[in-house]
Amino acid sequence: MPRRPVAVFAIAPWAFDGVFPADLLTRLRELADIDPATTFTSLDGQPEALAEADILLSGWGCPRIDAGVLAAAPRLRAVVHAAGTVKALVDPVVFERGVIVSSAAEANAVPVADYTMAMLVLGAKQAFSRAKRYAAAVEGTPRDWLSGEGTGLHDCTVGVIGASRIGRLVLRRLRSYDVRVLLYDPYVTDAEASDLGVQQVSMDELCRRSDLVTVHAPALPETRHILDGRRLDLLPDGAVVVNTARGSLIDTEALTRACASGRISAVLDVTDPEPLPPGHPLFTLPNVMITPHLAGAQGRELRRLGEFAVAEVSRLLSGAPLLGRVEPEHLAYIA
Ligand SMILES: NC(=O)c1ccc[n+]([C@@H]2O[C@H](COP(=O)([O-])OP(=O)(O)OC[C@H]3O[C@@H](n4cnc5c(N)ncnc54)[C@H](O)[C@@H]3O)[C@@H](O)[C@H]2O)c1
Repeated sequence: MPRRPVAVFAIAPWAFDGVFPADLLTRLRELADIDPATTFTSLDGQPEALAEADILLSGWGCPRIDAGVLAAAPRLRAVVHAAGTVKALVDPVVFERGVIVSSAAEANAVPVADYTMAMLVLGAKQAFSRAKRYAAAVEGTPRDWLSGEGTGLHDCTVGVIGASRIGRLVLRRLRSYDVRVLLYDPYVTDAEASDLGVQQVSMDELCRRSDLVTVHAPALPETRHILDGRRLDLLPDGAVVVNTARGSLIDTEALTRACASGRISAVLDVTDPEPLPPGHPLFTLPNVMITPHLAGAQGRELRRLGEFAVAEVSRLLSGAPLLGRVEPEHLAYIA
């Protein structure tokens, strides 16, 4: 009888049940031998668990996969990561040894795109600052929270920075709104932009023309402070900046100044530094809404990551192309 493939888990216990609920484990068992009772987040004392592994099902909490892990896992064919980026996880030696690497970033993109749309809709209505004014209102003072300085996400221009996995989902969702969409992404051709239904522009033009700007590019040396003070000054009065990407893409001091002036507002799921120190001025500004990096998969959304990973294992074992395959030459421009 041919040997059944063995898949070994390397994911933190706090995430395990959410990512791999019982029905997904049943599906996995049909594909490979698994031992859900053993999931390692450190190599200490675990080499025997790896000795038979053909597939490593990694997730949050997985230790870096380097030459030591490869030595302990001589049969390893693939790392199937049931979470987003693999950049910090996978040492170059993994690719050099021909181990296939796949990530569930595509599945993690869905809740981030949903969060972004919610924030664009509420941001366009200036809902956060108006709600705070409403809550702080004093009897007898003018009802200034009623005034419609926020116009809603209708007939406005949305600037999207990065047609990344998340950026593309946002672009698709924006098609059902009555808005003009501008895109900045040096990796997208004009023909592709036209297929996406967007106008490609320079970063400066995007800033000049956008009522709302949403940031979806990866953190790379060339995207650091892509929204710096000069570009924030190009934004029209009343513009809203939404950042779900990484804090480093925006110059925090310049953003703080621009928001403190009241000229623009911001919704930030990520900051630089992260977390922001307690008492940071951005926390106190009425026109800034900050959430603690919660746009990605959480709670019931975690299951999408496991579903994607199980489907990848199935594709791998049947010889079908992987949907989340990470190629080493892509690492320079992906998240
Ligand atoms: N807030 C959260 O919880 C959360 C969750 C997941 C991802 N993220 C972040 O969201 C962002 C997008 O993630 P993803 O997985 O969709 O990214 P991705 O890996 O799909 O992004 C790669 C794409 O970004 C675009 N790009 C690359 N360089 C660019 C540049 N200089 N300017 C503009 N566009 C450029 C290209 O189209 C490239 O193909 C990343 O910053 C990621 O870290 C945040």
